[in-house]
Amino acid sequence: MRVLGLESSCDETAAAVVESGRILSSVVASQVDLHARFGGVVPEIASRAHVERVTSVVRAALADAGAGLADMDGIAVTTGPGLIGALLVGISAAKALAWASGLPLVGVNHIEAHVHSVRMEHPDVPDPHVVLVASGGHTRLFRADGPARTELLGSTTDDAAGEAFDKVSAILGLGYPGGPAIERAAEGGNSRAFDFPRTLLGAGSLDMSFSGVKTAVLYAALGQDVKKGAGSVRPGVNVADVAASFQEAVVDVLVEKTMRAARRAGARAVGIAGGVASNHRLRKRLEEAARAADLAACWPPPALCTDNAAMIAGLGALRLAAGASDGLAIDAAA
Ligand code: KG4
Ligand code: ZN
Repeated sequence: MRVLGLESSCDETAAAVVESGRILSSVVASQVDLHARFGGVVPEIASRAHVERVTSVVRAALADAGAGLADMDGIAVTTGPGLIGALLVGISAAKALAWASGLPLVGVNHIEAHVHSVRMEHPDVPDPHVVLVASGGHTRLFRADGPARTELLGSTTDDAAGEAFDKVSAILGLGYPGGPAIERAAEGGNSRAFDFPRTLLGAGSLDMSFSGVKTAVLYAALGQDVKKGAGSVRPGVNVADVAASFQEAVVDVLVEKTMRAARRAGARAVGIAGGVASNHRLRKRLEEAARAADLAACWPPPALCTDNAAMIAGLGALRLAAGASDGLAIDAAA
């Protein structure tokens, strides 16, 4: 089963070809440079950029796979969640390709595809396992019971973890996207310099909250004069220490919640996916916690963690193999 996947839910235009779980090609055109000066993704700019890039990205994915559309067995596309205008570009392109080629078309949930990316990289991951999906738009915990069988266990009640990284990075004047910038800055800092809050929402909760830690960083870095705006860090405040202390606070919460979820689900392994999963401190701490609990820990490589179409093609292939076809009436679910 050879599947062409398309992804355009946020600020990455992506296409990929996957054959029987193996990634033959994965092309991602990032829009990071277009959104950087705004400190976040601007939906209208994202939609326009998707329109400009989607055709060449699909062509590149097919060329890298050494294949044409006629060699595909089906097409998979992200239908949500994401930015409505951005999603519609990928969906319209996928419909046009499906209509022109007569290939079956299936819609794929972006977050379930992130969960699936762990299994794509580690086909032998034992079930049930727990996957933390942490990115700029979502932070959720899932129990995975088999391919395409997932159950939501908990989710953030306010900011996504990646969004907190992005906002704190803006406060500290470190630029966008915030995750890699904070991680770099934190390397030279003392993670115990500031005691930022770890919001755990009660002993049994699997939900998360990151707005408190973000506000604490805002006051620690800018002082009472927060109106002065992002980037104007108080004299004497060590940015590396703030970055390291913030990162440690977020990692503490993510690891605690993931291990709680693992205990609750009777999981045999834990995984992480989404952009934040490329954070080395998070990986190290989760690995240590999993080892202490005698569980396997696994995650995809960075290119499969951030938004990509290989995970969309991979999950779509399971549905196509089962005979599913959503037809040309599929729509975006923002
Ligand atoms: O999955 P992704 O590429 O796109 C979304 O669906 O949002 O994730 C992007 C998010 C951004 O918020 C970015 O700051 C964060 O992932 N991120 C990181 C790291 N690399 C990317 N957060 C923490 N540490 C990193 N190394
Ligand atoms: Zn994502």
